[in-house]
Amino acid sequence: MTTAVITGAGSGLGRKIAILNHTRYDNLVLIGRNSEKLNETGRICIARGTARVFCLACDLTDENQIRQTAKWITSQLGTVDLLVNNAGLGYFENLLDQSFEQIDRTFATDLTGMIKFTRLMLPLMVDHVGKAADIINIASIAGKIATAKTTTYASAKFGVVGFSNALRLEMQSRNIHVHTINPGPMDTNFFSIADPSGKYLKGVQQFVIDSDQVAELAIKSVNENLREINVPRVMGFGAILYTLFPTMGDLIVNSPLINRK
Ligand SMILES: NC(=O)c1ccc[n+]([C@@H]2O[C@H](COP(=O)([O-])OP(=O)(O)OC[C@H]3O[C@@H](n4cnc5c(N)ncnc54)[C@H](OP(=O)(O)O)[C@@H]3O)[C@@H](O)[C@H]2O)c1
Repeated sequence: MTTAVITGAGSGLGRKIAILNHTRYDNLVLIGRNSEKLNETGRICIARGTARVFCLACDLTDENQIRQTAKWITSQLGTVDLLVNNAGLGYFENLLDQSFEQIDRTFATDLTGMIKFTRLMLPLMVDHVGKAADIINIASIAGKIATAKTTTYASAKFGVVGFSNALRLEMQSRNIHVHTINPGPMDTNFFSIADPSGKYLKGVQQFVIDSDQVAELAIKSVNENLREINVPRVMGFGAILYTLFPTMGDLIVNSPLINRK
């Protein structure tokens, strides 16, 4: 029996990844806060042939819920072959306008909750006999290039990239492959929280990526054991240039041409 665990599976990219994986694993474990949205993803997967779907309501900002969810997976399923850390949110506002609640929620969901959940999944993944297990961490291009109005979100996503890089090294000898996916703006509900005004999304309309494409790339990262995928590629290339030429990078990313927030 093989098992894939996907966080944030009730919508957007997480749902797309679950659907694309519908016959690759015997068990799909779908995690998020909203049971109705998870059940809808589950119904789609079952209709397409997934053997077993488990929808587990869990708020990743709540340590007790993380522990309970991990306990259930441990006792009921025992091993995990794929963990997709996808749940996340952000608020695109100047730091001067952010509340402590927004700061805490962003870090607890995107970074610390994800790290704690991974910590509890690792014992179910290490040293699988005969085959590797995989972890896909969904970070962001904001974890490679910080722009104005992403202080908290970019900090959390830079953290996800750093976490992935360190975990990849730790797990090299334990037969777990760690993959990082860094998408640019995607066509999901993310912006209903990040930018309720719609201004940013309107400004970057021509760069918005199809979340189906990102889901396919996430699966490709497992099939081809790729360490990191930046999409669109031009943004990944931009991140390399920014590292090499940071002063010029600041000018470029803060110009109205690039920063539409
Ligand atoms: N859309 C973009 O432009 C973009 C770009 C780069 C990276 N990303 C990243 O891609 C990932 C997926 O986002 P998306 O674009 O697909 O947006 P989305 O549709 O809003 O999905 C985010 C998911 O995270 C879940 N979630 C939020 N808070 C949670 C919590 N406390 N505990 C458990 N689950 C929680 C939500 O489910 P519930 O509401 O049911 O909890 C939701 O299903 C995120 O990590 C995001 O940062 C998005």
